[in-house]
Amino acid sequence: MTRDDLKREVAARAAALVEDGTVVGLGTGSTATFFIECLIARATAGLNIACIPTSERSAEQARAGGLTVVTFATHQTIDIAVDGADEIKRDTLDLTKGLGGALLREKMVASAARRFIVIADEAKLVDWLGSLCPIPVEVTCFGWELTQARLRDQGAEITRRQTAAGAPYLTDGGNFILDARFPPIADAATLNRTLRAFPGVVETGLFPAMAEMALVAGANGVATYRPSGFP
Ligand code: 5RP
Repeated sequence: MTRDDLKREVAARAAALVEDGTVVGLGTGSTATFFIECLIARATAGLNIACIPTSERSAEQARAGGLTVVTFATHQTIDIAVDGADEIKRDTLDLTKGLGGALLREKMVASAARRFIVIADEAKLVDWLGSLCPIPVEVTCFGWELTQARLRDQGAEITRRQTAAGAPYLTDGGNFILDARFPPIADAATLNRTLRAFPGVVETGLFPAMAEMALVAGANGVATYRPSGFP
């Protein structure tokens, strides 16, 4: 099985959890793309849902597939949000997200969801956040150098994200992303709070204790992870 096969399998599993008449948060990234594909297939077969996407990319895919796209202007509660992740801490389900650049909308959608479900292949499971990838931090363009210095003071090595053409990467909200490489992170909730307290930080890619469940595809099928201590 290829990695895409695993992503497809786990996406289909999550799509099967979506119920008729609900509001669904659509994640961003390759795994979420497969999830949206599955939802389009279900909607074509009669499933009636309204969707709030976490990026312009996902919104485009949803609309092109005939899904009903709504916004927080009319729908402020999401029944279920499904999204990928860059790292999943296997005991707590704390997450790193945002390598795809959509972390702010992803966190808003996850925070408004009654159920937030993460889908991934098993390569994303880690013992410590920060072991596979940097933590993306969305920052204002104004004064980003100051914010960068503040993040460096917290022990991170910083790279400002760039496009393939070498221009500064801009999020859907028009902000920069600083990719902050920390030593393995013992306490994601505290680090998230510390970073968010700097005025130039818009949001971080640390998602502590937000996921109800992770569906993780591996060679032996799809495993369900729940955070220890989750009600
Ligand atoms: C985008 C994200 C994605 O969920 C994350 O990058 C995982 O993407 P993929 O499924 O392509 O590995 O956080 O901002």
